Amino acid sequence: MAAIDYSEKIPNNVNLGEDRTLQRALEQWQPNYLHWWRDMGPEGAQELDVYLRTAVSVDPQGWAQFGYVKMPDYRWGIFLNPADPNRKIHFGDHLGESAWQDVPGEHRANLRRIIVTQGDTEPASVEQQRHLGLTCPSQYDLRNLFQVNVEEGRHLWAMVYLLHKYFGRDGREEGEALLERRSGDQDNPRILQAFNEKTPDWLSFFMFTYFTDRDGKFQLCALAESGFDPLARTTRFMLTEEAHHMFVGETGVSRVIQRTCQVMNELKTDDPAALRAAGVIDLPTIQRYLNFHFSVTIDLFGADESSNAAIFYSSGLKGRFDEGKRTDDHLLKGATYRILQVQDGRLVEKEVPMLNALNEVLRDDYIRDSIAGIERWNRVIEKTGVPFRLKAPHKAFHRNIGSLAGVKVSPDGRVVSDQEWNASVAQWLPSDADRAFVGSLMGRVVEPGKFANWIAPPVMGINRQPVDFEYVRFN
Ligand SMILES: [Fe+2]
Ligand SMILES: [Fe+2]
Repeated sequence: MAAIDYSEKIPNNVNLGEDRTLQRALEQWQPNYLHWWRDMGPEGAQELDVYLRTAVSVDPQGWAQFGYVKMPDYRWGIFLNPADPNRKIHFGDHLGESAWQDVPGEHRANLRRIIVTQGDTEPASVEQQRHLGLTCPSQYDLRNLFQVNVEEGRHLWAMVYLLHKYFGRDGREEGEALLERRSGDQDNPRILQAFNEKTPDWLSFFMFTYFTDRDGKFQLCALAESGFDPLARTTRFMLTEEAHHMFVGETGVSRVIQRTCQVMNELKTDDPAALRAAGVIDLPTIQRYLNFHFSVTIDLFGADESSNAAIFYSSGLKGRFDEGKRTDDHLLKGATYRILQVQDGRLVEKEVPMLNALNEVLRDDYIRDSIAGIERWNRVIEKTGVPFRLKAPHKAFHRNIGSLAGVKVSPDGRVVSDQEWNASVAQWLPSDADRAFVGSLMGRVVEPGKFANWIAPPVMGINRQPVDFEYVRFN
């Protein structure tokens, strides 16, 4: 079951060959996908030989195989974790019933919406990152970017498989629409706002893969609890790939910080102008990037009070993070949760039914996980002796969704006047000048083992290869 059949046009471990209709539908979608990849995938990189991992099995041990691949030849396919024939729905009104192997009619529209919304983020991030290869700080980083990109492409395959197999004609139409929307496009944008933002430089990329791919982790974890078993099995396998994306982000930011602190110590200064003149990114600028990506990403969890969230949970479609490890009744009727809102110019807590607050519950789980990594960055700074700490902004800062949308709150959680906001925003969020400065550092470094001045080399290479390994062959 776990082995993947690579003799087929579409690699898979779902016995695709036994379902001719589905196979035909996916084989019709495949060239459109490749067309999208050539148009919207990594710019100027389609002919490069990239040292990539490809999934060869869904076994936890040794599922990946490394080798040089031209990205358009990457074996995108359909991989599900093995089925557990005894799996039961473990939350909501269907608690204790057998997990669904097919879509229950009454949940069809909601399930399709969940799958399409998740699916839309996958090609979006490839589009957002498509120019970054031209300004990579090293071969090692270039390879990591491309690895993330091909796997986001595979995540799109994962969602399109579900749409084609379980949603008939409208599923196939949604599969086409996923290739037609474009990140940042005025007329036909991606569904969620964070996926329409630009990722113009590598600091943004590392912040994105740390914060926004982590949103992916939490959404996928919630879907991996789903009573709709094919969705649970698909997302479980996607999570194994997601871990590498967050690794790229966490270590990327960490290496930027490390290099900055090194130069701070060499020059014995914390003056941003002096550090910028030395070609590294000052820590306050890194903090502003963090503030931006953190706040934009926590909006992705949706409104703090949401009847849809309650419906998705009670109907068994989307669980909580670590649903299976929680010890409450998994029904949550009568339970409450505290959300934030503004009253008389102050942030106050309001108790609401927990079922309606499940977006907020997931957001708070996400925030805890994000902060843990920020603390790991702080340990990197501490080790260099530099007296500076990075901090997650208050969750009410710079929000655009739910009861906090548009409220002016400082990163330390004070409701502020428009006047104070306008006077301070350049200290809180990346300014045009910050972005222009970071942009000015971006230049392509592709000699094996060489790194741009603004980032430290990694501690280890990929797949136990040396750091100066030839990760990309330019032919
Ligand atoms: Fe993804
Ligand atoms: Fe990802």
